Amino acid sequence: MLVHIKDIVKDARTKNYCVGAFNTVNLEITLAIVRAAVAMKSPVIIQVSEKTIEYAGLKPITHIVETIAKNEAKNIPVALHLDHGHSFHSVFECISAGFSSIHIDASDLPYDENVKITKESVDYAHQSDVWAQGELGRIFGKEGMSKYNGDFKEIEKYLTDPEEARQFVAATGVDTLAISVGTFHGRFKGKEKIYFDILDKIRAAVDVPLVLHGASGIPDDELTKAAEHGVSIVNIDTSLRVAFTDQLKKTITKESDMIDPRSILAPSIDAVAEVVRRKIMHLGSNNRV
Ligand code: G3H
Ligand code: 13P
Ligand code: ZN
Repeated sequence: MLVHIKDIVKDARTKNYCVGAFNTVNLEITLAIVRAAVAMKSPVIIQVSEKTIEYAGLKPITHIVETIAKNEAKNIPVALHLDHGHSFHSVFECISAGFSSIHIDASDLPYDENVKITKESVDYAHQSDVWAQGELGRIFGKEGMSKYNGDFKEIEKYLTDPEEARQFVAATGVDTLAISVGTFHGRFKGKEKIYFDILDKIRAAVDVPLVLHGASGIPDDELTKAAEHGVSIVNIDTSLRVAFTDQLKKTITKESDMIDPRSILAPSIDAVAEVVRRKIMHLGSNNRV
């Protein structure tokens, strides 16, 4: 069933577990996420990026998620969220389309501009009872810092500052906060680690649910630890893309005569669902419904 994100996140906070926010780009990945959530009796957040909206169209991808949530997950809460909205236009469009949550990401701008842009979207979202996520600190990977040379001192410059986080939440009124505590977006060849000391300080400084982005490169047991340290939402995209595409390559190589897209894509749906089930188990959101 399609629910407001607040119903999912409030339950997770009360019961001290973490919820996966999984990126979809199409019908197949949406089916995989929802089937895994149903199998694990877990609430789930499904999110789309601006690039996915450009690829699939806002209405089609919204309807895919909503219809699958309503029909395939009758008793399982599913919420729809905009991931990394970089403009007020995206925020506006997604709210009009019926999303219950949006992310306004102005984290690459100076602090004051980030506050201004975030607050504008928060105020607008709240008029429609939509939750808004803001972002403070920068996450390596897709945000212009792909030239990272493996030096952890470099990352430390971009981590979220706990005191600034407190001021940011107070100044913007965000409902959830995306933080930078060592994770990277995308497929990163180096080591990823969570700075749990910084995470604990941010947790103590703000009372809003915390969102950990770029979680694909984090080992499963560290995801469990992040949940124990008070992260409420964990964003996972790359692991799903890798599972989908690796399986697709295998299927096409092994069954080179196959021409039915449904037969070609079905194993990829299963491969993505398996990853989602594993992540759900480590986040502790299984058997919550
Ligand atoms: O963090 C970003 C998400 O993984 C979305 O990526 O812009 O390639 O869809 P995308
Ligand atoms: P990964 O692609 O590294 O899992 O990050 C996902 C994410 O943060 C989406 O916002
Ligand atoms: Zn992200």
